[in-house]
Amino acid sequence: MFERQKAKTCDCADVHAPALRPGPENKSLLLLFFRKEGLSCVMLIEIEDFSVRYGRVKAVAQISLQIARGDVLGILGESGSGKSTLALALMALLPRHARVSGRLAFEGLDLARLDPAGRRALRGRKIAAVFQDPFASLNPVMRIGTQLAAFAGATREAAIDMLQRVGIGEPERRMRQYPFELSGGLRQRVAIAAALLCAPTVLVADEPTTALDAATERQILALLRESRALVDGAMVIVSHDLSVLAALCTRIAVLYAGEVVELGTATDLLRAPRHPYTRALLACDLRRLPKSAARFPTIAGQLPDPALPRRGCVFAPRCPVRLPCCAEQAPPVIAAPSGFVRCHAMGA
Ligand SMILES: Nc1ncnc2c1ncn2[C@@H]1O[C@H](COP(=O)(O)OP(=O)(O)OP(=O)(O)O)[C@@H](O)[C@H]1O
Ligand code: SF4
Ligand SMILES: [Mg+2]
Repeated sequence: MFERQKAKTCDCADVHAPALRPGPENKSLLLLFFRKEGLSCVMLIEIEDFSVRYGRVKAVAQISLQIARGDVLGILGESGSGKSTLALALMALLPRHARVSGRLAFEGLDLARLDPAGRRALRGRKIAAVFQDPFASLNPVMRIGTQLAAFAGATREAAIDMLQRVGIGEPERRMRQYPFELSGGLRQRVAIAAALLCAPTVLVADEPTTALDAATERQILALLRESRALVDGAMVIVSHDLSVLAALCTRIAVLYAGEVVELGTATDLLRAPRHPYTRALLACDLRRLPKSAARFPTIAGQLPDPALPRRGCVFAPRCPVRLPCCAEQAPPVIAAPSGFVRCHAMGA
C-alpha cells in the first residue's frame, strides 16, 4: 500500500532495509488504512509532535498519532515508559507541574491548553476513565448508589440497570454498600459501570486488570470487550501486558522511553513485530513461552534516565541489532503495512 523509497536520515544505507514513506502520519494514507480496516474516518483524537515534561524528566517525547471513531488503541510499554502520562493527557488530567508541547486535540479541542472549566466539562462526560485501582475513581466514603448518581448523573433505575449489565448480581444491595465492602473485581466492575453511565465518547483505561487475580482479570477483560459496544467513540487501553492488549485492541502503540517506537494493528504486531523492542517484549511474554522453557527471558539493561538529553535511538544501549549509526542519529519513521516503525534497521 505504501510506496517504497530510500532512507535519507542515515549513512549506513548498505545495511538497511529500504525505508518506506511515513504512512500513518500522512493523513490521506491513514484514512485509506482506516477504511480498509473498516474503521470510521472521523478522527476523534489527533496527537501531533506531543511531549510532556516533569521538570527535567521527559515522560512523553514527540508522539504523533491519530485515533478514529471505532478504534480501540492499546498503549504498551514497560514501567516508566510514559503510558500513564499519555493516558492522563488524553483525560485532560495532567498534573499542574507537567509542561506540554505540541498538540493533543479531542474533537478539535486542544486538551492540554483547556482552562479548568473546559477540562471539567469534558471529564466524566465526553472522556471517562478506568484506573488500575478502582479506589482512584470511587469515593471510599460514599455509597455506590449515591456516587453513581453524583458522578454520572444517573437515575436509580439507570444505575441498577448498568450494574446488572456489567455483571453485578443483587444490584439493589450493592447500591447501598461502600466500595470497601466489595471485592477488587466488583469494585472494578462498578468503576466501569460509572464510566459507561456517562456515555463517554472516549473511554481511557489505565492498567484496568493489573491489580486483579487471573480469573477476575479474564472476567474484566471480557467485560471491557463487551463495553466497546457501549462506547460510541473510541477506547484507549494502557497496559504493560501484551496479552491484555491483544484481547481488546484493534491497534497497539509500543512506547519506549516516552516515544512510540512501533504502531500497528494488534494482529500485525503479534504476528510480525518489527521493532527490536517489540520483538523483545513478545519474547518475554510468559503466556507465549512453551511450558518446557527452562528460564524466563528478560530484556537486558534498563530504560534510559528520562532526565538526560537524548541522542540517536533511545533503545540503542539495549538493542541486540544496533548499527553504527544508532547511537548518533535519530531513527527514521518507516511506514509498515498497518502503521509505522522507528528503526534504522527495519528488516535487517
Ligand atoms: N507526577 C509526576 N511528577 C514527576 N515525574 C513523574 C510524574 N508521573 C510520572 N513521572 C515520571 O515520568 C516517567 C513516565 O512515568 P509514567 O507513570 O507515565 O510511566 P508508566 O509507563 O505509566 O509506568 P508504570 O507502568 O510504572 O505505571 C517516569 O520517569 C516517572 O518517574
Ligand atoms: S534504531 Fe538501531 S538501536 Fe534503535 S532499535 Fe533500531 S537497530 Fe536498534
Ligand atoms: Mg502507569
